[in-house]
Amino acid sequence: MIAIVLGTRPEIIKMSPIIRECEAKQIDYFILHTGQHYSYEMDRAFFCDLALPEPKYNLDVGSGSHAEQTSRILTGIERVLEKEAPDIVLVQGDTNTVLAGALAAAKLHIPIGHVEAGLRSFDRQMPEEINRVVADHISDLLFAPTETARQHLLHEGIPHDKILVTGNTVVDAVFQSLAIARTKSNITETLGIMPKGYFLVTSHRQENVDSPETLHEIIRALLAIHAEYSLPVIFPMHPRTKKMAQQFQLPLCGITVIDPTGFFDFLQLESNARLILTDSGGVQEEACILGVPCVTLRNTTERPETIDAGANLLAGTGCDRIREGVNEMLNARRTWENPYGDGRAGVRIVESILGMKGRCGEG
Ligand code: UD1
Ligand code: UDP
Repeated sequence: MIAIVLGTRPEIIKMSPIIRECEAKQIDYFILHTGQHYSYEMDRAFFCDLALPEPKYNLDVGSGSHAEQTSRILTGIERVLEKEAPDIVLVQGDTNTVLAGALAAAKLHIPIGHVEAGLRSFDRQMPEEINRVVADHISDLLFAPTETARQHLLHEGIPHDKILVTGNTVVDAVFQSLAIARTKSNITETLGIMPKGYFLVTSHRQENVDSPETLHEIIRALLAIHAEYSLPVIFPMHPRTKKMAQQFQLPLCGITVIDPTGFFDFLQLESNARLILTDSGGVQEEACILGVPCVTLRNTTERPETIDAGANLLAGTGCDRIREGVNEMLNARRTWENPYGDGRAGVRIVESILGMKGRCGEG
């Protein structure tokens, strides 16, 4: 039996191909939702768009400091794992849900599969970097999306036979939803925007939006880009960012701020954008997969494949550098290979789990 642990927007999206594969193969599994994300547009909207089955458990942990949130998830997951005794626990990515899910399973000696293993920004100031390093080192099966990720794991001493390069399940999710998004979403009509006639922005990284200076600088850059190109800047705003922008009383007039959208609307916004500005991990990947140039509002990235492909540029968070980055990427070559796989990562991961007998829990 597989326990699929998830709790946030990107985990729901990136676990969806694995859940679909479990359904298709009629595998015994259940979904454990931690409730780290709980607002409709960060949680339920994705179960609806992606037609996912209901979680068997929802821990409803909600928000809090890192320690509060992680400890609530840890104790909640332990109770469920003791009751269900699954053969393997699957976690995806680098959130507090992943850290706590992996830790609870490790202490109960239940094998762990880490989906999207081996990503490194080499910036330990990021909470996500701590989470992914710990999760990788206590996992039994490491599903690395790319060869670069595999090399990071090998370099840290993780045995090669625990690692499988699968591609990233985000490609599966995009391929499975893009055509449906085109027919179901009317967000561009609702917003009155034309294909290639707007910039799309997301920003929610703690180190960016919890700092008044950094968030102000990002907003300044967005307003400057809006003025320079006379194009709408569409910003589906993460609740964390909305909260901080209100607290810092930042001027948003000139930017089209909307609520976070469902997956179909967001794919439609991404694939038609002139350029995407983001500090999100998943959005850097999706821009690259969809052939849309990206400017990343950070100094480091754990997605270097997007930079190597020529699809992404690291601009940091200074207004001038962001403006230069946008100009540079608007004039750059727009064709590149998608480095994240063929859309069959979910199938590979499930096949590997089915063949795992005897491979886990030996070290
Ligand atoms: C978390 C992850 C981050 C991931 C992001 C995906 C960690 C440490 N961070 O960041 O890696 O990129 O999810 O979006 O795990 N809030 C709501 N409704 C919600 C969820 C959050 O209003 O459904 C607000 C609350 O004010 C909360 C804040 O957003 O305090 C931050 O939420 P939290 O889950 O702690 O971190 P994220 O910034 O969402
Ligand atoms: N996303 C979405 N609606 C939005 C913003 C993002 O559906 O308004 C999706 C996006 O397609 C991607 C994922 O959310 O698959 C990225 O999540 P997020 O940026 O919250 O987290 P990260 O990838 O940085 O961990």
